[in-house]
Amino acid sequence: MPAIVVVFEQAGLRVAVDSETTVLEAARKVGLHISSECGGRGTCGKCKVIAQPASVPSPQDLEHLSSTEIEDGMRLACTLKLTENTRVQTLGNGEHVKILTKTDSKEWALDSDLQNQFGIAVDLGTTTIVAYLLDLATGVQLAQVQSLNPQTVYGEDVMSRITYTSREKDGSRTLQQSVVSGLNQLLANLLDTTEVTVDQLTRICIVGNTAMHHLLLAADTESLGRSPYQPSIIEPISMNPQELGLQTNNTSELYLPPNIAGFVGGDTVGFILSQRLDLADDVILGIDIGTNGEIVLSDQGKLYCCSAAAGPAFEGSSILNGMRGQTGAIEYLSIIDKDERPDISVIGEESPRGLCGSAIVDTVAELHRTGIIDNTGRMHKKSKRVIDDEKHGRSYIVVNQDESMEGNRILFTQKDVRQVQLAKAAIQAGFRLLLDTVGKDVSEVTRVLLAGAFGNYIRPESALAIGLLPKVEISQVIPVGNAAGEGAKGLLLSKKSRDLAKKIVANVKYIELASDKKFQDVFLNSISLL
Ligand code: FES
Repeated sequence: MPAIVVVFEQAGLRVAVDSETTVLEAARKVGLHISSECGGRGTCGKCKVIAQPASVPSPQDLEHLSSTEIEDGMRLACTLKLTENTRVQTLGNGEHVKILTKTDSKEWALDSDLQNQFGIAVDLGTTTIVAYLLDLATGVQLAQVQSLNPQTVYGEDVMSRITYTSREKDGSRTLQQSVVSGLNQLLANLLDTTEVTVDQLTRICIVGNTAMHHLLLAADTESLGRSPYQPSIIEPISMNPQELGLQTNNTSELYLPPNIAGFVGGDTVGFILSQRLDLADDVILGIDIGTNGEIVLSDQGKLYCCSAAAGPAFEGSSILNGMRGQTGAIEYLSIIDKDERPDISVIGEESPRGLCGSAIVDTVAELHRTGIIDNTGRMHKKSKRVIDDEKHGRSYIVVNQDESMEGNRILFTQKDVRQVQLAKAAIQAGFRLLLDTVGKDVSEVTRVLLAGAFGNYIRPESALAIGLLPKVEISQVIPVGNAAGEGAKGLLLSKKSRDLAKKIVANVKYIELASDKKFQDVFLNSISLL
C-alpha cells in the first residue's frame, strides 16, 4: 500500500506513492509535466522544484543548484526520493506554452462522396501536438486545438523516450497510452467546439517524426536508438484507430504516411507535400530546426534530404538558463549598449525566467555583432556585463537577479555559446553537404523555407548572422508556418495526396551525414561564427 502522499501545490494534485519514489516519478503518475530534458538522469538541472520539508541535497543538487536555491528548499525532482509526506511547488512547469498552429493554407484535392463526413489531421510533434478538424467534403477547417505532447513527462527529446522504452518494463505501452490519452483529449475538445459527432468522424491522419510514429504504434524502437538509426516501419499505415485506443467510431480510418529514414518521418513528407517541393523549378532549401534538424533540398524538383543532429540547444536544453517558449521566456533580445541591460521581450509580459530558442540565437548574434564574442566564439571582457562566475565561468549577464522572476541571475555562459556553435554547425554542415551532393553553391539557392515553431519564431537576421541559415538575402528566407500540419490536412483529405506522398518518398534521396566522408571536415569548418 503506497504510504507517502505528495501534494503538487499549483496543480492542486495529490498522489500516494511508495517510499523512495522520486518526485519526478510521482509527477508522471499524475500526468504533471516537470521539465526533464535529460529524462531524469540528473544531468540537465532543469527539473527544479521546491519541496517541503526539504531533504538533504543530492550530489546532483549540489552540482546544478546555487547555495541560495538549496537554502530555499529547491531540489532536482529526479533525484529527490520521497521518504515522508511532501508538498511540492513546481516553479512554473505546466504553464502556457507557445505552440505554432498557423499553416500556410493550400488547395487540396478532395475525395468524392464524403458528404457529412469529417476528419482530423494531426501534427504529432516531440514537444507539442496540433490537431485540425476538417470537413472532408469541402476541405474547410472547422476548428483547431493544441497541447503539449504528454510524453514530455518521460523525457523531452526523442532519445530520452526511446531509452525509456528499453529501460522500463512496459515502457513502450506506457508511452503509447500517454500519447493516445493526449490525442483523445484533443479529439474530444475538437468535437466539443463544433456540432460534429463522433459518428461523423471517419478519418484521422497523423504525421510525426519517425520516433513519434513508432511510439504511437508501440513499435520496436531499438534500431532507431542506435547507429545507423533505422526505422522498423517505413510503409504507410491504414488501420482502425480503435486498435490504438483512440476514441472514434468503429468504421473510421487512421492513416499514417510513410517514413523516409530514422530521423526523417511523415512530418517531413507533409512539409514536402504542402510546399510541393517536388514541383519546384528553382533551388530551394527547406529547413525544420529541432533537436534533429530535417533539411530538404529541391534542385528543380529533384529531392534530397538529411537529418542534422543539432542537439537540444535551440530548444533551451543544454543552455544554462534555456527554457521552452512559455510564460517568462525571453523570446527576443538585442544589445543597444554593451554595458547596459539588453533590450528584451518576454512571453506573457512577465518578469524573465530564462531564454527560449529564438532569444538564444539572438544572444549569440548580438554578442558577436558587438565584439563580446569573436569569430571563434570566445567571450571577451569587453562589457561590464561579462563576468567570471565562480560556478559557471565566463558569462554575459542577460538579466540581474533583482529583475528576474525567480530572483536568480540569468546568464549566457561561454559554454552556452559553444553549444549553440555546435548546434548551428550541425545544421550548416547538413545544408552544405546536400548542396555539395548536387554540385550547387549557396549562392544558387533561391529560397529558404523555414518550417516548424523554431523557424517561425527566430529572427531571420540573427539566424543568418550566425550561419544557421545559408547566406542568402533576408527576403529569400520565408517562414511557412506549420508545414507538416498543412501536409497532414492534404493527406487526410484525399487518396490522391497519399499516392503523391508515396511517390515523394520513393524519389527522395536520403543522405546519411554520419557516413559521409566529408562530414567531419565540413562540420568543423562550420563551427566558426564568420
Ligand atoms: S536533472 Fe532532473 S530531469 Fe534532468
